[in-house]
Amino acid sequence: MYILSFESSCDETSVSVTKDGKYVLSNEVLSQIDIFKEYGGVVPEISSREHVKGITYAYLSALKNANVTMDDIDYVAVTEGPGLVGSLLTGINAAKTVSLNYEKPLVGVNHLSGHIYAAFIEHDPIFPSLALVISGGHTELVVMKDHYDFNKIGSTMDDAVGEVFDKVARIIGIPYPGGPLLDKIGKDGTNRYPLPRPMLHSNSYSFSFSGLKSATLNLVNELEKNNIKYEIKDIARSFEEAVSEVLLEKTLKAIKEYNIKEVVVVGGSAANSVIRETLTKGIKNTKVTFPEMKYCGDNAAMIGISAYYKIKKMGVDDISLTPKSRLDL
Ligand code: KG4
Ligand code: ZN
Repeated sequence: MYILSFESSCDETSVSVTKDGKYVLSNEVLSQIDIFKEYGGVVPEISSREHVKGITYAYLSALKNANVTMDDIDYVAVTEGPGLVGSLLTGINAAKTVSLNYEKPLVGVNHLSGHIYAAFIEHDPIFPSLALVISGGHTELVVMKDHYDFNKIGSTMDDAVGEVFDKVARIIGIPYPGGPLLDKIGKDGTNRYPLPRPMLHSNSYSFSFSGLKSATLNLVNELEKNNIKYEIKDIARSFEEAVSEVLLEKTLKAIKEYNIKEVVVVGGSAANSVIRETLTKGIKNTKVTFPEMKYCGDNAAMIGISAYYKIKKMGVDDISLTPKSRLDL
């Protein structure tokens, strides 16, 4: 089964061709990061217009790179939410156009399920599995007993992991895009500042990162006020260790309670080196899987892989599909 998929929920325009819910034949990703550097973050109106500019090129090159034509495609999939409505709209309109024109059934995919299925590219999950979704907009723990059986057991009460990386990066003067650059700088840093580990020992699976962000800001202010020399690499590293420890503890607790056989860590911040190392080393006797780096951030391949299982379990959608800024798993 060949699926053509579209992703445009935030600042990446992406189109992909995937096969049998397992193989990526092509995955064209046009990033808007360079455009948003001068603004220090995503500007929704500009993002929408950039998607319009890039989507046709991404579509044509996805087909070309996969060496297929529309005759080979069985289904058209598209991210329906959550995300920026104006941005989602471009992917949805493109998918609907192709679906109608070539008479291929249309299926809407939840962006978060896409992130989860990025871990299942050329990889069969072992159920029950636990997905730790850490992206710019979400931090969620999801138990899966089977394909497309999502049980959200916890989420963040305030900032998402990627969001707090971006905000802390800004506090210590690291330019946009904060997360990846903070990761790079923190690699040479030392974990020398004892930052809080919010909700570490709470009984719930809820996360809270805004207090950690404030604590980092206070630390920087204190160091500067007292004329104490510091290096941002050490603050970056101390912050990363604090986030990683909280993620590890909650994950370990869920592994035990839900008898988890495999943990998948997905979303933009799953690319982080300290998070990867902490979870890999800290989780023993349970398999830990990360998507390949190129499938951690937003991409259409993960939407195509997820669509395959959605079609099998729930069938397809129709032309009435609309963009949704909020959408639960
Ligand atoms: O999944 P994603 O591409 O988009 C959303 O669905 O939100 O995630 C983007 C987020 C950004 O906040 C970015 O700073 C973060 O992922 N991110 C990272 C790293 N690479 C991207 N955070 C920490 N370390 C990284 N290496
Ligand atoms: Zn995402």
